[in-house]
Amino acid sequence: MTFLYKADPQRGERWAELFAEKAPDIDFHIWPGKADPDKVRYLGVWEPPDRIAERFPNLEVLFSVAAGVDKIDFSALPAGLPVVRMIEPGIVAGMVEYVLWAVLGLHRDMPTYRRFQEERLWKPLSLSPAGGRRVGVLGLGELGRAVLRQLRTLGFQTFGWSRAPHVIEGTMCFGGRDHLPDFLAHCDILVCLLPLTTETTGLLDKNMLACLPRGAALVQVGRGPHLVAEDLLSALDSGQIRDAILDVTEPEPLPPSDPLWVHPRVTLTPHIASMTQPDSAVDVVLENIRRFHAGEPMIGLVDKAKGY
Ligand code: GLV
Repeated sequence: MTFLYKADPQRGERWAELFAEKAPDIDFHIWPGKADPDKVRYLGVWEPPDRIAERFPNLEVLFSVAAGVDKIDFSALPAGLPVVRMIEPGIVAGMVEYVLWAVLGLHRDMPTYRRFQEERLWKPLSLSPAGGRRVGVLGLGELGRAVLRQLRTLGFQTFGWSRAPHVIEGTMCFGGRDHLPDFLAHCDILVCLLPLTTETTGLLDKNMLACLPRGAALVQVGRGPHLVAEDLLSALDSGQIRDAILDVTEPEPLPPSDPLWVHPRVTLTPHIASMTQPDSAVDVVLENIRRFHAGEPMIGLVDKAKGY
């Protein structure tokens, strides 16, 4: 019985050690490796190989090593093959850290102070308490809910939007596309944590950015194609958006000629907001393998019709 891993080889080494320690009955191979294709029952991928069904006739579960599954073309998979995305404590903790850093930085005007420093300008701005700041999160899955919990602890007013209605104590929630403009109107700081689907591609365009209060800020930790970059640049130049912190772009890596690199109101990081941590993720994967064989629902099982 083989688990074949096709993602970042560096972290693959750690996965291999953990499997050897915790699941010695499962042979763990790093792609391309020398695994016998007939023995591959579990495949862990960031980007899957082509012709999965032909290559691995006995494949039972396809694991995404990431929270997002947008690199996986469901139409190219056997209909009955379950796909599981990564929901594990390490990836949640990483995202909470990044978003809190970004939101607190924006709340405390750090991008402005950075610009002041470049001008050697000593200029205190007035300080408003967190309770006076409205932070909205697009996407109310595991990550969005964990981020909101911590934002509430810090005292921010919190808002959430998802395609389906949610109830979260202490956070005002909006559901469905019709209520998106109303949600956006409440966001001094907007955090995008949506999955990438056909419905969410290009969602953050000029019309939606225009629904934010003037001078709002953006934290983009979803996927590059959620955001229409030229609309963001116009919104930054007009003052509609005061600052943007982007961890994801389209394409990735962002080409050196892209104007986002040099825009004074853009902070860019190279898709590092959060990453699966093999040390905490291995238990979730092994638990899912156990659940699969016991006929129990797996953690993070993807609904292929919804796309996440
Ligand atoms: C990273 O972007 C992930 O989807 O886990």
